[in-house]
Amino acid sequence: MNRRFEPARGLTGELRAPPDKSISHRAALLGAMASEPVRIERYLHAADTDSTLEAVRALGALVELRGEEVVVRGTGLREAREPDGPIDVGNAGTLLRLLPGWLAAQEGRSFTLDGDESIRRRPVDRIAEPLRLMGAQLSARNGRFAPLTVRGSHLRAISYDLSVASAQVKSCVLLAALAADGATTVSEPARSRDHTERMLLRAGVGIHRNGRRVTVVNADELLLDSVRIPGDASSAAFLITAGVLVPHSRLLIGDVGVNWTRTGFMRIVRRMQGIVLGDLEDETGELIGDEPVSDLDVAYGALEGTVVEADEVPLAIDELPLVALLGCFAEGETIVRGAQELRVKESDRIAGAVEGLRGLGAEIEATQDGFAVRGTGGLRGGTIDARGDHRMAMMGAIAGLASREGVEVVGMEAATVSYPQFVEDLAGLCS
Ligand code: S3P
Repeated sequence: MNRRFEPARGLTGELRAPPDKSISHRAALLGAMASEPVRIERYLHAADTDSTLEAVRALGALVELRGEEVVVRGTGLREAREPDGPIDVGNAGTLLRLLPGWLAAQEGRSFTLDGDESIRRRPVDRIAEPLRLMGAQLSARNGRFAPLTVRGSHLRAISYDLSVASAQVKSCVLLAALAADGATTVSEPARSRDHTERMLLRAGVGIHRNGRRVTVVNADELLLDSVRIPGDASSAAFLITAGVLVPHSRLLIGDVGVNWTRTGFMRIVRRMQGIVLGDLEDETGELIGDEPVSDLDVAYGALEGTVVEADEVPLAIDELPLVALLGCFAEGETIVRGAQELRVKESDRIAGAVEGLRGLGAEIEATQDGFAVRGTGGLRGGTIDARGDHRMAMMGAIAGLASREGVEVVGMEAATVSYPQFVEDLAGLCS
């Protein structure tokens, strides 16, 4: 579906960010692994997180929808049922990477995961390697891609150094570690989102962090009771970008998750002199179970270019295309480095952002691990192809509101993967 976004005269009003996608996936998965029912408040109902509910149903969990609340009655840690056919993960990379961690521990049972065209281009060798070291058997197409088959085994604990700072791979190993013999340690090259660690702590698991190392002790069961999903900082980032770029804007975004491992983008916007007021969480040395939230107050203002380096990348990974968009409007240059992971997201987001924004009038160059933008005071407008990627579709829409001539987004329906109400929410703020 093509959709046009005309230049806006200012976005004003209040709204709540949609529930967090990453935390919703984890709540459904941990709910399925728990022995007692888990009540999930404000579960995200979107294509990706619907895939997770379907997947856990296929594995024997009971899922009850009660409006915004979802109740999951799990099978317990070691009792997932072998489904009749492949598990369809749809477009959900998080499901593709996290679920095998649980499945690897289902002794004597076999599971196949497959998904859409984009999912079949996302590497799974990064999870296959540590799971094999723990004792599971895995096979993937060309050794790297879905369909992925996992044969569960009795697992042993490992100490594992991640080669990429990926919360998905870290979480996969932590989930497998729950049913392994002993204590497993995962070390990450840079800090990535820690929602899994926080939720495991809440579920009574022995887990602790020491800098970039996380250690988890095996468990008999998970006791989670209830989880409340905060607003999604990555979805809020689109609204923040609109508020900062469109003159006369003033937005209040309620209930946004501000776990510091997710707020890299907000810190980058502030560094660019953008106005984003709210209580962002500070980094704490210890692991805490809570997911902090804050209301954010966003206003239009002049921006300056900035440089984003590798350490900051995992903390803003899904928002980096928006940094490129902000860079088009900022004074001077905006550079992102160390972000080669963007090439293996739902689409190649370096190519998508660079070619897409250039088509709207930007002065932007791709590098092997990021991009460099020269601010030219705005964007002309034109047409941008979402390439089947929800975040690229939403970036195109925001570019349109901030542009001089408007933008036509090809494939706007992709937004339903993480933010089904996106177009309606924007319309409400523009009226
Ligand atoms: C996610 C982690 C990130 C992110 C993805 C969601 C998660 O991926 O890009 O959208 O929920 O753990 P990586 O961990 O592979 O960087």
